[in-house]
Amino acid sequence: MMKKNIGSVVGLYPTPVTIVGTEIDGKVNWINIAHVGIIGIDYMLLSMNKVHYSNEGIKKNRTVSINLVNQDMLVEADYVGIVSGKNVDKSEVFEYFIGKLKGAPLIKNAPVVMECEVIDIYDMKQYDNFIVKPVNTYVDEQYLTENGKIDYEKVKPILFEMPNRQYLRTGNVVAKCWNIGNEYKK
Ligand SMILES: Cc1cc2nc3c(=O)[nH]c(=O)nc-3n(C[C@H](O)[C@H](O)[C@H](O)COP(=O)(O)O)c2cc1C
Repeated sequence: MMKKNIGSVVGLYPTPVTIVGTEIDGKVNWINIAHVGIIGIDYMLLSMNKVHYSNEGIKKNRTVSINLVNQDMLVEADYVGIVSGKNVDKSEVFEYFIGKLKGAPLIKNAPVVMECEVIDIYDMKQYDNFIVKPVNTYVDEQYLTENGKIDYEKVKPILFEMPNRQYLRTGNVVAKCWNIGNEYKK
């Protein structure tokens, strides 16, 4: 079958949906961020438009939280991606706790939450690209395997795709990595 060239389109979806938590002028704010990534092996990327209110807090505190989203949180998660802290108080949308870092509120009901420090900012014309490092990661015990690893089949993080503006669910394990490849036959 012939492939159709659809132009210069970013096809790297789905990406995980996250709720990024900040504190601005002593008040908690939440934002939905799905343009995220892993850098190296222990740093993460948050690509955030400079128009957002949240950026102010991250730049000032040099701290931020990243919270994974499951299906139970989807209405609230989408809501904090629709309205801005500039004109709406979003501080009570999620119940939260504070870990070690100031300025990085952590969502009580989210399955996996990370309090992070900002390591660097890759500045683009319209975007602050925050490079962050998790200082502490907290996981509900029901989402841990017997040997203490995060069980993503149980967490079921929600994913995002931009072209059709939709959320997707994650599924079941299909194979073991660094393993199924051994079945390759020349
Ligand atoms: C599903 C979804 C994903 C989003 N992903 C991003 C993103 O990766 N980067 C970004 O700058 N804005 C993203 N947004 C937009 C912000 O979440 C939104 O503009 C928010 O209201 C800004 O909040 P604030 O002004 O309180 O910081 C996303 C919104 C939604 C609904």
